[in-house]
Amino acid sequence: MTSVVHVNPAFAVGEVNRRIFGTFVEHMGRTVYTGIFEPDHPTADEAGFRQDVADLVKEMGPTIVRYPGGNFVSNYRWEDGVGPVDERPTRLDFAWRSIEPNTVGTDEFLAWCERMGIEPMLAVNLGTRGLEEAMEYLQYVNAETGTELPDRRAANGRPEPWNVRMWCLGNEMDGPWQMGHMTEQEYARIATEVGNAFKRFDPSLELVACGSSNRTMPTFGRWERVTLEAAFDKVDHISAHAYYEPLDGDLVSYLACAEDMDRFIDSVVATADHVAALKGSEKRIGVSFDEWNVWYQAKFDGETSIPIQHAPRLIEDVYTTLDAVVVGSLLITLLRHTDRVAAACQAQLVNVIGPIMTEPGGSAWRQTIFHPFALTARHAHGDVLQLAVESPTITTPQFGDVDQIWATATHDADSNEIAVFLVNRSLEADDEVHIKLAGFEDLDLVEHLVIHTDDHDAANTAAAPDVVTPQAGESSLASGTLTIAAPAISWHCIRLSGRKTS
Ligand code: AHR
Repeated sequence: MTSVVHVNPAFAVGEVNRRIFGTFVEHMGRTVYTGIFEPDHPTADEAGFRQDVADLVKEMGPTIVRYPGGNFVSNYRWEDGVGPVDERPTRLDFAWRSIEPNTVGTDEFLAWCERMGIEPMLAVNLGTRGLEEAMEYLQYVNAETGTELPDRRAANGRPEPWNVRMWCLGNEMDGPWQMGHMTEQEYARIATEVGNAFKRFDPSLELVACGSSNRTMPTFGRWERVTLEAAFDKVDHISAHAYYEPLDGDLVSYLACAEDMDRFIDSVVATADHVAALKGSEKRIGVSFDEWNVWYQAKFDGETSIPIQHAPRLIEDVYTTLDAVVVGSLLITLLRHTDRVAAACQAQLVNVIGPIMTEPGGSAWRQTIFHPFALTARHAHGDVLQLAVESPTITTPQFGDVDQIWATATHDADSNEIAVFLVNRSLEADDEVHIKLAGFEDLDLVEHLVIHTDDHDAANTAAAPDVVTPQAGESSLASGTLTIAAPAISWHCIRLSGRKTS
């Protein structure tokens, strides 16, 4: 099999939105406790955060991180997590039936973000709470001192405002599993009111209304329309969430699930633009894809199966090479929509469906899915290019006929770096891909890395953390065409240098 990928810097989708490389820290399972935070760990810093984990997070390179949930936020009292730690209450979190000691709260988390150089994105509780508590939280976090709430923040050690720019107005409020879930009419009203208050406080805040929890929700489409018809002037973005896994053993569709994310984004954009048209507005609402990943939900027995305890081992999926290839393909999809994706957060960062795993008191290691994220985040700069792909097709039960080769490319005119990210999403057909680079001069191959193993179920564990790592790929560059070997189920990161011809 052969394919051709045409790369030309004359055709750009738009600038790489670096917020696409976001992640998610929820008070769930072991993301926080024994994940990023473990004061008794040998590598813990003065604030109790693990430095072995911090080093891996820096290597992975997330640019933005959503906090504190997820379902958790919909029954969270932010006041419980600020002030002297020994005076904070221990509470039962109903979302994940877990004991929450509130040792880590907003100030500890935002200070960690600051040390890590990662932008925070905060969510407010619109499940069990409402407008007043959201307004108070905003003031605690972002207001200048001189009134009660920011003065309390100053007394807790932080006089300067945290200046958080992105705020999520609730989480998955369309989901019956959510504490305080709502109809679209109810949510549209509260989102409009909170948006109104937040914009009054600071019109430059970026507000994310809840969209659908996934594309198969019965209210999908209508939820977005009703919410945006009401809140259009008060919000900037609408969220989308999606988790993928092989359904009924259908690996063919699973490998092609980037199609679902692609169509999901297109539908949300179409709905938002429809509302804009109805309102005669040129405003363009962004899609905040603030939860996405591979998650083997079939292995999860549901929330009521969770024994009530602190920091349980919850949905700690072990990822394979196949999963890494899928994650790579989802990142390609997000980049292809850089013009409309306002942010994207892989859920979650550590232990809970995480690219990073830890043992309490022990090691931290990279799951397979760490690698496509880290390499894409490191090398996607400049403009995302619009490619033309001539590829064999695969017939999938879920998505019909799809291209076997799924790709994107970026070009940074300042550094003359070109990066091509590409997946062969066939289960068994190897491919030779000819990447034709027109419109460039002085081309050179810098590096070609591949994620592929003969056994696609290979995984990394504490005992064997480097079974699946990026390896050098087979490629040759001649007369402006790079030819690469793309075995079945493989993800590629190809870096070249080249100047745009004038
Ligand atoms: O990331 C795990 C959970 O998935 C989040 O808490 C929730 O928002 C989503 O359903």
